[in-house]
Amino acid sequence: MSTLSEHLIEEIRELPAKYPQPRSAVMPALDLAQEEVGYLTAEAMSEVAAALKLDPGYVEGVATFYTLFHLQPIGKHRFYVCTNLSCTLRGANEIVAHVKGAVGVHEAGELSKDGLFSYEEVECLGACEYAPVMRLDHRYERDLTPSKIDALIAERRSLATPSAVEPPHPALRADLPAKRGGKKRTTKGG
Ligand code: FES
Repeated sequence: MSTLSEHLIEEIRELPAKYPQPRSAVMPALDLAQEEVGYLTAEAMSEVAAALKLDPGYVEGVATFYTLFHLQPIGKHRFYVCTNLSCTLRGANEIVAHVKGAVGVHEAGELSKDGLFSYEEVECLGACEYAPVMRLDHRYERDLTPSKIDALIAERRSLATPSAVEPPHPALRADLPAKRGGKKRTTKGG
């Protein structure tokens, strides 16, 4: 049985036609797979490779290079906090400490008990003039303060009513290791 839904595999097969270089479809394809499964399992990556008719090693190489792809369970909402120089000078370490305390995790990549949150420290996000900065889900949050963080977390928790939240993916278990490494390299905006 496939990890990815038939519908998604079909969608991935159609992606190469949208790009001048068919290989360019690998990033959006991995993004779709991650969105559906929660993170990129070995099976999901190999199904992406098969759907795109690409070498599985190439697909895995892309998935492991970019920080926006995750090979282990992560939170539904991810904080990518910049801890490069400008942000650190303007309080990024305090922001990281506040995020950790507010969602109840101790280290980067750890999943909060409710499966909603995880955080990572990343290199410059290219928005130094708004330091401290982070990306939360697909949006940049700028000029961060502890109260802004609290509001962002409260907003997401309020959406996560029991009827609105799907049960966590079976693999989203807090006792699984969730960290690939230390501070991540990231591409600008990603
Ligand atoms: S140092 Fe944080 S965005 Fe550049």
